[in-house]
Amino acid sequence: MTGMLEGKTALITGAASGIGEATARLFAKEGARLFLADWNAAAGQALADELRSAGHDAFFKAVDVSNEADVEALLKTVKETFGRLDCAFNNAGINSTGGPIDQIDLDDWSRVIAVNLTGVFLCMKHELRLMKEQGRGAIVNTSSGGGLIPVPNLSPYCASKHGVLGLTKTAAREYADKGIRVNAVLPGSTDTPMIREGMGDNEEVKEMILKSIPAGRMAHASEIAEAVVWLCSDRASYVSGDSLLVDMASVAR
Ligand code: NAI
Repeated sequence: MTGMLEGKTALITGAASGIGEATARLFAKEGARLFLADWNAAAGQALADELRSAGHDAFFKAVDVSNEADVEALLKTVKETFGRLDCAFNNAGINSTGGPIDQIDLDDWSRVIAVNLTGVFLCMKHELRLMKEQGRGAIVNTSSGGGLIPVPNLSPYCASKHGVLGLTKTAAREYADKGIRVNAVLPGSTDTPMIREGMGDNEEVKEMILKSIPAGRMAHASEIAEAVVWLCSDRASYVSGDSLLVDMASVAR
């Protein structure tokens, strides 16, 4: 049986950890040739090396997705390496510090918006230039359940993830006639370093998170990766502008 992404080239940002890492592993298993990007150079390079030694085609470049020169150079290298880009998973993201809006520092707001929203904009801008030349491509952006509903005390994060949905839907409309599909994946609480760091040793926060999930457990990163593979694959050939919740009904009402 051939993989769902056999022969496709793919770019994944935030590939060094959590959902990005799990997606890189699944993309490789499904036959994609991979370009991994992350600002954590050590972990990103180690993953690319591991995938290569297992026989996959995988490259890594250190980038800050909020820096346009970095992103432009990344897409130039992807084009030089593969000649084309079939799939892009714009997934790099950070959490914000907690608190009500009147207590949020402008620096925190700006940092979160720069990575989570401007980062997705910059990646799409340069990916779409390449995909437009090819007349085909599939993009998936990582939003969040918090891209649909309010997340009290995490306003920068929540606003950035709402923004990702606006960008995704707009791009889907702008590029539908150019053979390019653009979708968002909205993970529920997923067991990754980001959420573990956010919870720390605070059992109360952990309990609150688990209580908000009807299934009583967080997602495994690999469960989010499955949705991304499908959205990037030709099996989703008529799916664009969609916001795919992968959260076991956590925000369903
Ligand atoms: P993670 O912290 O395990 O992985 C995020 C990766 O992004 C890290 O490798 C980090 O180095 C990289 N990164 C951060 N800022 C970057 C930048 N400016 N440039 C390049 N790379 C950068 O986190 P996780 O949980 O895997 O998160 C992945 C995405 O999923 C994020 O966008 C996050 O907001 C989103 N998400 C996560 C949820 C969760 O419960 N873990 C729930 C909903 C959405």
